[in-house]
Amino acid sequence: MTQGVTGTAEEMIEQTNPEVFDLIGRHNHEQVLFTYDPSCGYQGIIAIHDSSLGPALGGTRFWNYASDADALIDVLRLARGMTYKAAVAGLNLGGGKSVIIGDNRTTHREMIMRAHGRAVESLGGRYITAEDVGTSVEDMTFIGMETEHVVGMAGKSGDPSPVTAYGVYRGIKACAYRKYGDDDLSGRSVMVQGAGHVGFSLAQDLTDEGAKVFVADIDGDRVQQACDDLGCEAVDADDVFDVDADILAPCALGAILNDETIPTLKVDIIAGAANNQLAKSRHADDIKERGILYAPDYVINAGGLINVYSELVGWSLDRSKRKAAEIYTTLLHVFELADSEGVTSAEAADRLAMQRVDAVARLHRTFI
Ligand code: NAI
Repeated sequence: MTQGVTGTAEEMIEQTNPEVFDLIGRHNHEQVLFTYDPSCGYQGIIAIHDSSLGPALGGTRFWNYASDADALIDVLRLARGMTYKAAVAGLNLGGGKSVIIGDNRTTHREMIMRAHGRAVESLGGRYITAEDVGTSVEDMTFIGMETEHVVGMAGKSGDPSPVTAYGVYRGIKACAYRKYGDDDLSGRSVMVQGAGHVGFSLAQDLTDEGAKVFVADIDGDRVQQACDDLGCEAVDADDVFDVDADILAPCALGAILNDETIPTLKVDIIAGAANNQLAKSRHADDIKERGILYAPDYVINAGGLINVYSELVGWSLDRSKRKAAEIYTTLLHVFELADSEGVTSAEAADRLAMQRVDAVARLHRTFI
């Protein structure tokens, strides 16, 4: 088994001697840029994993890493994940990511973000950045003062959650088709963990089709709203993994599929928006052994990336949703590949992604 895109930072450290070029070479990253600007204390790393399909796109994470090695490992892992995500979604984008090392609560953001913008600009469009953990739309505006290679600024593609939720809804239907031979969700029950931007919108799509929807959130107001507006049934946040439903849709946190939760699951399908749902790559095997169908997170939640891509290529919301709807057929393809190659769905998704990257990289250039 290859170490999939779901591999955690700990797994990367376990499996590597963390010398800089060992780390960069391990997953064939193309380029890593370290930039330091002492005038404002900016320390940033930009990683481009693979640009065979197009410019490497991925957000800027602002985080107080314990060490420079931790920051490097994180940016490499996240950049690689973006290659897989864009490739399997059928977008003409490569995979990249950047990190700024420091306390993301700082109020002295302008110079740090502008320094980062200059670093992005120095790559001449090989890398395009966006918002991520610890950065905001306002930060993108500062970055945009130094480079045009930034997406998600105020007044642009906007909140990606409705497109993400729609893609997840289509993905759940594909899973139902695969598991039950019928993608009609009326009469099916879905446990939605997290009634936030994506979870609420997903619950709406599901209840519109007549599904019974349970919701859990640590924010009681959000649960109440889902119950009042959509007719959902409230579940305590601690009971999510014990609920007797057909489908679990994780839409809150990562690493929720782990040694503690997997043995207690009563569902047939796991299909939700949360990033990095598997605590470790090996948990995909545990889920498969339990006979549960797992929709790999980066396949089913690609609607967010599709929404950002739409900003670059000028798609309408309707066009973005049509692209997100294709997650249905992509997932069926992933499940078929998993069956034919005898691997987990997570591994199959990684293989499908790399097949597309390799095929495009092999295309002949012709002289015009
Ligand atoms: P959000 O912050 O709007 O919603 C998350 C919700 O989960 C919040 O209501 C929060 O109170 C709740 N929550 C936190 N811990 C919880 C727990 N232990 N149990 C139950 N609920 C808990 O975030 P959003 O945008 O809805 O994203 C949800 C997930 O989907 C995240 O993992 C995000 O990374 C992922 N995602 C989101 C995309 C988007 O377009 N917003 C795109 C792709 C992935």
